[in-house]
Amino acid sequence: MNTIAVIGAGTMGNGIAHVFAQSGFQVKLVDISQASLDKGMGTISKNLDRMVSKEIIGETDKENTLSNISVYTNLKDGIQTTDLVVEAATENLEIKLQIFKDLDEICDANTILATNTSSISITQIAAVTKRPEKVIGMHFMNPVPIMKLVEIIRGYSTSDEITQTIMELSKQLGKTPTEVNDYPGFVANRILMPMINEAIETLFNQVAGVQEIDTVMKLGMAHPMGPLQLADFIGLDVCLSILNVMYDGFKNPKYAPCPLLVNMVMAGKLGVKSDEGFYDYSESRKAEKVAAQFN
Ligand SMILES: NC(=O)c1ccc[n+]([C@@H]2O[C@H](COP(=O)([O-])OP(=O)(O)OC[C@H]3O[C@@H](n4cnc5c(N)ncnc54)[C@H](O)[C@@H]3O)[C@@H](O)[C@H]2O)c1
Repeated sequence: MNTIAVIGAGTMGNGIAHVFAQSGFQVKLVDISQASLDKGMGTISKNLDRMVSKEIIGETDKENTLSNISVYTNLKDGIQTTDLVVEAATENLEIKLQIFKDLDEICDANTILATNTSSISITQIAAVTKRPEKVIGMHFMNPVPIMKLVEIIRGYSTSDEITQTIMELSKQLGKTPTEVNDYPGFVANRILMPMINEAIETLFNQVAGVQEIDTVMKLGMAHPMGPLQLADFIGLDVCLSILNVMYDGFKNPKYAPCPLLVNMVMAGKLGVKSDEGFYDYSESRKAEKVAAQFN
């Protein structure tokens, strides 16, 4: 493997491009939005600067990593002559199915097609291609340059050979790949989301307040972050959509999203990205903006 295309330059896509480029791969980063590409490259550069200042990498490593990435707004230009495509576009079934149809048509027959989806069925995505044995889930965690896990999801038809190749490749990135099968929520979200949902239910039932629930889980269970704060970071809309996928997929009421979560999403309280979720982030954002003016 030498050349990797990453589709989507948002939160996850720029992190995925970063780790591949830092490991010496040629990366083609593709997004329909030039603004997303600019922002993504800015984030990669800032994250590399932080690594240089912490002496994790040298200035030359930073320059090499950046020079390994080229950006494209045209899918066809970006994905030609690639060994692997990692799709990290918006979490929307229609968008992903269209991307995979296009990838299947344009890419060489040997190109492996991976998706970073948090909840959409790998088997369903693979079914729109003529190479379902070469379609696989490569679920990186946020923030990608820091988090060690890659959940490797085998679709119904994914071959042993492709799974092995992607497991080895993840190790080359310094990550720990873990193989799982393709059922709603995979493993990470099947366990995490019911915990977050139960924390919201506990708040909804007025058993305790936001701070109290998070403190119990942080200090009592040694979680680095409470479940309500974590939900704010993931995005409440994202949590709701993953719970709905599991609820629909298993037809089991235990995955039914808490009405408080549904209400907050309808009210536009999405967590950090909207400045308000279970916590209010507007003041810290204001402080960040003021600080930025003096930097
Ligand atoms: N955010 C997380 O914590 C997280 C964690 C694990 C997995 N994921 C998954 O990663 C994927 C991306 O999530 P994100 O948080 O980076 O989203 P995001 O909204 O930050 O970025 C998505 C990007 O995709 C681009 N895009 C949309 N349609 C496109 C298309 N047709 N072609 C090319 N680019 C397109 C958008 O312009 C945007 O820049 C989703 O499948 C999500 O479920 C997210």
